[in-house]
Amino acid sequence: MSANTVEINRTRFRFDDNEAVWLFGYGSLIFKADFPFVQRRSARITGWSRRFWQGSHDHRGTPEAPGRVVTLIETPGEPCSGVAYLIAPEVFEQLDFREKNGYLRFSTEMTFDDGSLVQGLVYIATPENSAFLGPASESDIARHIAAAAGPSGPNADYLLHLAESLRGLGEHDAHVFEIEQHLRLVLK
Ligand code: BEZ
Repeated sequence: MSANTVEINRTRFRFDDNEAVWLFGYGSLIFKADFPFVQRRSARITGWSRRFWQGSHDHRGTPEAPGRVVTLIETPGEPCSGVAYLIAPEVFEQLDFREKNGYLRFSTEMTFDDGSLVQGLVYIATPENSAFLGPASESDIARHIAAAAGPSGPNADYLLHLAESLRGLGEHDAHVFEIEQHLRLVLK
């Protein structure tokens, strides 16, 4: 699959008849909400793990030297914490463009802290997209991130913002926090 997903996403999981749609964010959407929203709530989805396995050609790296950003990997039973935004359907056009480097819209159930459930959307970069990098050790990922930068800034800032935001939400993510530890040593 081509890394540019804008056209594909236009035809996926459209909610044009809804006044507003819940979007689950687990990466940069947690710390960078540069779009209008009606509500923001902490939430989780189940059956997915957050992993720095997606290449970034357009935000935290370049086509020649991609950075590493998060995607979700199917992991039965595993909870992934993040933030849910209630947004107007037309905002998805802006988000499809921002997340065009391999991310497709998927329908998902999400759970709020009070236990209530809603259906909504999540962007996932699956292994079939051409920017997918796949697994590596946390220390190798940290070294990769330390060396990468793109139009949105250093790849290291992305990881450090994400780790700090997860701590702010009271969440623990072993993968993210282990990369953070290695990265802080590499950056010293
Ligand atoms: C997210 O935070 O959910 C997200 C980040 C980058 C691309 C797609 C989704």
